Amino acid sequence: MMQEKFVIQGLEGKRILTGTIKINGSKNDAVQAIAASFLFRERLTLTNLPPIDDVDKMLTLVEQLGSQIIRGKCEVQINPPSNLSRVTLDMKLAKKIRASILFTGPLLARYHAITFPHPGGCVIGERPIDLFLSGFQMMGARVTESDQNYTIEAPTGLTGAEIFFRNVSVTATETFIFAAILARGTTILKNCALEPEIMNLGHFLISAGAKIDGLGTPTLTIEGGGLLNGAPRAYSILPDRIEAGSFLILGALAGKKITVTDCEPAHLTSLIHHLKLAGGTIKIDGPSVTVSNFDHQPFKNFNLTTHEYPGFPTDLQAPLAVLLTQAAGRSAIFETIFSGRLLYLETLNRMGAQTTILNPHEALVSGPTPLKGKEMESPDLRAGLAYVLAGIIAKGETIVHNIHYIDRGYERIDERLRPLGLAIKRC
Ligand code: EPU
Repeated sequence: MMQEKFVIQGLEGKRILTGTIKINGSKNDAVQAIAASFLFRERLTLTNLPPIDDVDKMLTLVEQLGSQIIRGKCEVQINPPSNLSRVTLDMKLAKKIRASILFTGPLLARYHAITFPHPGGCVIGERPIDLFLSGFQMMGARVTESDQNYTIEAPTGLTGAEIFFRNVSVTATETFIFAAILARGTTILKNCALEPEIMNLGHFLISAGAKIDGLGTPTLTIEGGGLLNGAPRAYSILPDRIEAGSFLILGALAGKKITVTDCEPAHLTSLIHHLKLAGGTIKIDGPSVTVSNFDHQPFKNFNLTTHEYPGFPTDLQAPLAVLLTQAAGRSAIFETIFSGRLLYLETLNRMGAQTTILNPHEALVSGPTPLKGKEMESPDLRAGLAYVLAGIIAKGETIVHNIHYIDRGYERIDERLRPLGLAIKRC
């Protein structure tokens, strides 16, 4: 199949886009909720499901494991199998998506064994799974590693343990909440991530009978109690705060007035804070946020440090760096979460930006610099989105290849941006 690409006619710095964009359900909430379906004896229904590639891949994996799936566009019902003799994730597919690691918790706890490959996903630096392997060992499991895959076995089930996460990890926190719910005894998880998606699913699991204490704090105490007995209601996936943030940055960069609707502004506090530093007006009205008055050139510069929630999300670092190329003076970027998430700056330099990567975690951006359209390859989801933003403000035509990365997390972004007045086509 021919790889698709985006062709964008740049606005040459003009801030003219106008209109409204509706925010989809959160990718990272959806993928964890799909894995959590194995915690339930019966059907789990998910609503506000985003129609994106990562969700399709996770649902395919679930189906291959024997779950029955009834799927609508933004809703899915998942019925897990009551027995499985051998739990092996499809190697080719699981390798393509980092979130496949989320299956280890519930599958190992429920069916007592799992074989899976090192999970792939976006190449944004080293993405080890040591927290998972050591955590399962502490819960009594045996880990065997071969060239191709890992097998983890716990023939009599997992046992509660006290686990300290050396790094704050989103998917490790989620995975061990799942494992602990089905384990024997008490599990104490320390240094947990506090992302809103974890809170949302945690509260839902509690309402379905899970015994989780301390939600909203870094220490969780979970009493294992076996399978959850049917969900009281459907699980409603949170609005995607990264998608909302990406479109708000677009609004600042190229909008006259852009409103994102159906989002959760409370989850965007840190981005909104930074956009205000840049110098525009952000208006919050219920679940809508409007960006306007960014039409004075250039933006004010600021330093950007990524941090676990509620700090500035690493997933918006590359998109916001595009704005920093249009800010007056020097800005520093400190990427504290991943070590390979600054390389996209070299492509922005080819477009005319002036950035310097100091080391795998730090970079400097000097601006403002007009950008010129170029041909480029998206290296991952969020850097790919940053290239789209850069192409939108550049002079001339930009061609972004490898857009399957962008489709992993943003639904039909071309079709959703055209009504704002942007010339972008997929071909
Ligand atoms: N880490 C370890 N060992 C582990 C696991 C993680 O050292 O076993 C380290 C990582 O190398 C990193 C830090 O812990 O330095 C945090 O990584 P984390 O585990 O939180 O990342 P993740 O759970 O794999 C999720 C999101 C990412 C998002 C990060 C950080 C999902 C499915 N993915 O990844 O989303 O960037 O948290 O917020 O929830 C994206 O949407 O584009 C994306 C990459």
